[in-house]
Amino acid sequence: MANVLIQPRYLLRENFMSYYKHHVFICTNQRQDGRACCEDHKASELRAYLKARVKEEGLAGPQGVRVNNAGCLDRCALGPVMVVYPNETWYRFTSKKDLEEILDSHLRNDKKVQHLRISPKYDD
Ligand code: FES
Repeated sequence: MANVLIQPRYLLRENFMSYYKHHVFICTNQRQDGRACCEDHKASELRAYLKARVKEEGLAGPQGVRVNNAGCLDRCALGPVMVVYPNETWYRFTSKKDLEEILDSHLRNDKKVQHLRISPKYDD
């Protein structure tokens, strides 16, 4: 008798649509020992701004955009940083203007903002 793989219905591939269209993780880590960290560059304030703007634009929620706090993402010297999933797009941002560009281009129109991107590779 052939092996037949039986999967529960909730594991079927067609059920694996992403819960969020874009899931944004922004490092808001604050270090106390003087080493570089994102919070030294107002990461929490900027994250709150992006989260509010996503909500204002009606993009928040399931099948939409989610903006989460993250602990250290190990890119401290480049901070403040965020990573957007799916497709692991890393950005360095320094202002509300940068966030507006990411919001309008990437989160709304699926077009990455090339000049704000940082490499996903470990060697930078
Ligand atoms: S403190 Fe933000 S990446 Fe490490």
